Amino acid sequence: MKHDKIERSATLLLILSFIVVTIGGLVEIVPLFWLNNTIEKVKGVRPYTPLELAGRNIYIREGCYLCHSQMIRPFRDEVERYGHYSLAAESMYDHPFQWGSKRTGPDLARVGGKYSDQWHVQHLKDPRAVVPESVMPGYPFLATTELKFDDIADHLKTNALLGVPYDEDMIKNAKADLVAQATGEDTEGLVKRYGKKRWGSATEVKARDFALDGKEKITELDALVAYLQMLGTLVDFKAFDVKNVENLR
Ligand code: HEC
Repeated sequence: MKHDKIERSATLLLILSFIVVTIGGLVEIVPLFWLNNTIEKVKGVRPYTPLELAGRNIYIREGCYLCHSQMIRPFRDEVERYGHYSLAAESMYDHPFQWGSKRTGPDLARVGGKYSDQWHVQHLKDPRAVVPESVMPGYPFLATTELKFDDIADHLKTNALLGVPYDEDMIKNAKADLVAQATGEDTEGLVKRYGKKRWGSATEVKARDFALDGKEKITELDALVAYLQMLGTLVDFKAFDVKNVENLR
């Protein structure tokens, strides 16, 4: 009968509900601040190279996330189609993250290395040239638009402010590293700063001569392809087993 009192007084009901919801909320949320597996420590995740970061900016500018997710859920059908489900650590340097919420096209979290650079170039210029039934729009202008990267060091700096481990050396050499990755020339510094040896990644940072087809300038398409080609390639999932997360710390 005590319930009667509570149910008849809106104020009392409100206050008591508030207390119950608060306790429930605290029990759910507070432990996350202490559990050190909220973001598992996983070997191999490195900050984006300047060229990849520039490509990512184009991905965001063009709204690719409106049709593509970058987040493989831990369900059997997704894992069989796209590969190992996404780990929190894989997007810990993403500001903002690109998980997305709609898949008009497939998930791109592990698209890196699935196709050749040339395939991506063709596909982005004219998707129906390689996938006849595609409903993806073409982005041919990316191939003719010169990449603006005067301010790339500032992009690294801003990310560093948000906690991405770009050091002074990386910021100072941002422009040189971008050119090195897009031309495949003088890549020693790039590999030293972003390479496998430093970060323990599963794949080496990939530099290539995008200018091979005769063009002189670095285009927005070059940057976008560099970005797509590294997605999901950093963690070695043969060595990674959820049961072994402890051992990787
Ligand atoms: C209107 C929705 C839409 C937009 C916007 C869009 N895509 Fe797509 N995308 C698709 C569809 C549908 C497919 C599947 C057919 C195909 O391969 O073209 C696809 C396929 C892809 C694939 C191949 C994936 C795979 O595993 O086969 C890549 C890579 C890709 N898109 C990149 C991009 C990028 C980069 C952008 C932004 C510049 C973009 N998409 C914008 C709809 C879209």
